[in-house]
Amino acid sequence: MKKIISIIIAATMLFALAGCGKDAANNSSNNQGAADGKKIIVMGTNAEFPPFEYREGEKVVGFDVEIAKKIAEKLGAELQIEDMTFDGLIPALEAGKIDFIAAGMSITEERKKNVDFSNGYYKASQVIITLKDNTEINGPEDLENKTIGVQLGTTGDEEAQKIQGAEIIQFNAGYAAIMDLQNDKLDAVVLDYEPARNFASQNDKIQILPVELTQEEYAIAVRKGNQELVDAINTVLEEMKESGEYDKLVEEYFSKE
Ligand code: ARG
Repeated sequence: MKKIISIIIAATMLFALAGCGKDAANNSSNNQGAADGKKIIVMGTNAEFPPFEYREGEKVVGFDVEIAKKIAEKLGAELQIEDMTFDGLIPALEAGKIDFIAAGMSITEERKKNVDFSNGYYKASQVIITLKDNTEINGPEDLENKTIGVQLGTTGDEEAQKIQGAEIIQFNAGYAAIMDLQNDKLDAVVLDYEPARNFASQNDKIQILPVELTQEEYAIAVRKGNQELVDAINTVLEEMKESGEYDKLVEEYFSKE
């Protein structure tokens, strides 16, 4: 009998603990707060995407982080950043571990089934990166049956999967794909233009082909139905454009050709 009672007590405690965990995960969205009573808003990102998000030492910085700071400011909240793999972002959002995704994430019909997007804030495209001494690949038509590196779960990944006979190697970081390209393990890498340009500016062995594979737009993703947050984000984006802050960030984070 005693044994049964202690099992029941243990089980009850486990449930209570599980409940606590869930509360903690929801803290950010419930606006319960940081130690100083300020509410916390959690941005999810994948800091492998300069100049939108990258690491400077321990810190995650970049264009998207600047926008996220403005969003937090608007909400009177403290910004917390969770850095994770790109393909883990939407599941983390759905699980309530993060409040929004700011990760150079392109709006797609597929993603719209699982998240709500803010208005677009940056026009983007997928490009092909090759080694400078490669004269064989001059456009998408030359990628058939080639080995192509992509970042897992990105629109570049999706685009590359459409290429006839190509072998697609998925990386968790675009940079890792560039390294394998440089080491002759890949024929090409498909990546977003701005990060591609960022990597190319620091690596004189690689080149970006002057062809855009797609037309995309980045937006901030929130949990489905979180209209309040979408509205706040759209207001922030509008205000930043009107005040000239947006253009200033573009100046700061994007090198001009
Ligand atoms: N724009 C592409 C997409 O939405 C790639 C984004 C990758 N972002 C990142 N932070 N790693 O799929």
